[in-house]
Amino acid sequence: MMKSHFLSLPSELILACLVNLPSADLDSCLKCRNRLLRSIILNSVFLRYRRAQELAGVEENADRPLNLGISDRLACLRRREASWLTFAPRSRHTISTDFQTTGLYDLTSEIYFVGDTADPNTSLCTSLKYVYTSPGTEASQWHTINAGKPIVDFGTALEEHDLIAMVTYTLNGAKASIDVLLLNFSTGAPHPLAAQPTLHIHDVELNRGRPGVSLEIVGQNLALSLMYWNDESRDMDGLYLYNWKSGLAKIAALPINNTGLAFLTPDIIIVPNAAEATLDVLHIRPEDGEGADFLHAFHLPTLAGHTGVFSFQCRGAPNPCASISRPSRSPFLPRPSDSILIFALTIISLTSETEYTFVVPRARLARMLDLRNRELDDATGIDVDWEAWGPQCTRWLDATTLSTQYITATVGQRMVTIARNAPLVRAPIRVLDFNETNVQKQRANGLVEGPHAVVRVVEETTLDLEPFALPVVSLLPYVETTSKDLFDYDAVLINDENIIGARFGDRSVESLEVLHFG
Ligand SMILES: *[C@@H]1O[C@H](CO)[C@@H](O)[C@H](O)[C@H]1NC(C)=O
Ligand SMILES: *[C@@H]1O[C@H](CO)[C@@H](O)[C@H](O)[C@H]1NC(C)=O
Ligand SMILES: *[C@@H]1O[C@H](CO)[C@@H](O)[C@H](O)[C@H]1NC(C)=O
Ligand SMILES: *[C@@H]1O[C@H](CO)[C@@H](O)[C@H](O)[C@H]1NC(C)=O
Repeated sequence: MMKSHFLSLPSELILACLVNLPSADLDSCLKCRNRLLRSIILNSVFLRYRRAQELAGVEENADRPLNLGISDRLACLRRREASWLTFAPRSRHTISTDFQTTGLYDLTSEIYFVGDTADPNTSLCTSLKYVYTSPGTEASQWHTINAGKPIVDFGTALEEHDLIAMVTYTLNGAKASIDVLLLNFSTGAPHPLAAQPTLHIHDVELNRGRPGVSLEIVGQNLALSLMYWNDESRDMDGLYLYNWKSGLAKIAALPINNTGLAFLTPDIIIVPNAAEATLDVLHIRPEDGEGADFLHAFHLPTLAGHTGVFSFQCRGAPNPCASISRPSRSPFLPRPSDSILIFALTIISLTSETEYTFVVPRARLARMLDLRNRELDDATGIDVDWEAWGPQCTRWLDATTLSTQYITATVGQRMVTIARNAPLVRAPIRVLDFNETNVQKQRANGLVEGPHAVVRVVEETTLDLEPFALPVVSLLPYVETTSKDLFDYDAVLINDENIIGARFGDRSVESLEVLHFG
């Protein structure tokens, strides 16, 4: 047999080759039981740091270099992961609001947005307020971004495009004009990459009322759904897709029955469909005007008789994105493709109205897609029965006892919850981590009771949920961290570095308490 010359190279050269390998291949190298190879791999701080990043599902933020040696960066990352796992926040601070807020809100990887005080004549705000959540020089200071027109909702793509898009409602005689204002977030001026700073969606009669809105932006795609709930006719409702850069519509409006949408990948969107009790999946073609293809309808578990899905919302953070233009300030960024989606639905029966939440890892659902569907005229395989995807791709939670006011409760693969009645009876915060590797690690450790939290694996379950014909099986396990401290928040939110507890006053956000984990 020929002797391999690879292992007779100097160690530095062997290492230089190994650093280019994906970690699965490094695992194979470890398994081949060559002592030299093993010691090079196990002794390299660089490889350990890379492994730790992979395990944590983060990347280093190139725009905020830590200016530390590799071993200090590794220590920094391990501290961060440990403080999340053991529920040991590194600092706390409170952000108070000295203004009356409206119901609009959003939370990005570092910024909390809320609608400014409403104009009493319209009950709509014309500007948004925002605040950086992590501790730092600008923490707790509110800033304003102004639309100059009544705002019905908004969406952002700050990291990818430094873009904030506000949906405005402007009176124009007997009608109102619905527009999307595309602003550079850093300057508040029209976005330089948008050919038209304002997308005019349509004019609508005043008696149809104001629309419910969902808006998401990824890459050049802007998806907007509008529902005029007060209008019986339903003929102004629709899902709109634009290339926000060219200002051109990608499709004519598609019929929908409820708001709520999320990007699964930069060109695939999920639209929860309450009427059909499905998650509809659309593929957006790259060229303007080429349209979109209906790929799948993933069915929810079969509903029992006399029940129906009443509302159906979803969200996932961070969004998939192609590039970063406006750097975040945190040293570690979660990898977008690994993030989970959260769905919130209300199911009504003759006697009750019950809220449910379920979680879907984006990558798992993406693996279920059959992209060939778009090439078939008479596409079969569009409908996917619950049994074929649900148990392995979802985790259901009974939300009747959870606070559900804010859907901004996930980041990366983590979700945060608190009991609905926490303002009355202080309650622990729970962090659910759906990462498979973390689940395996924790399973090996069993239940761990630390000074600040109890950590355990919650295995697969079968829930007997009343509105469904059969028990709902969720095979996805998660790591649950339950804080020992008790909190009285009305709602909890989560972003890259923080858990944020919100307290509501009289229909307004009174304060945000930031637990900073890093
Ligand atoms: C989760 O686990 C997978 C492997 O199962 C890993 O590749 C990933 O980086 C982990 N972390 C996160 C947060 O996604
Ligand atoms: C509200 O309407 C009244 C009467 O039309 C007007 O005088 C007032 O300026 C309006 N307020 C605002 C804040 O626009
Ligand atoms: C937004 O404006 C800032 C400040 O002028 C600029 O640095 C940035 O490049 C702009 N963003 C984009 C995506 O054009
Ligand atoms: C909306 O709901 C109606 C009535 O239930 C149904 O006929 C229609 O197919 C639904 N539309 C979509 C896009 O699912």
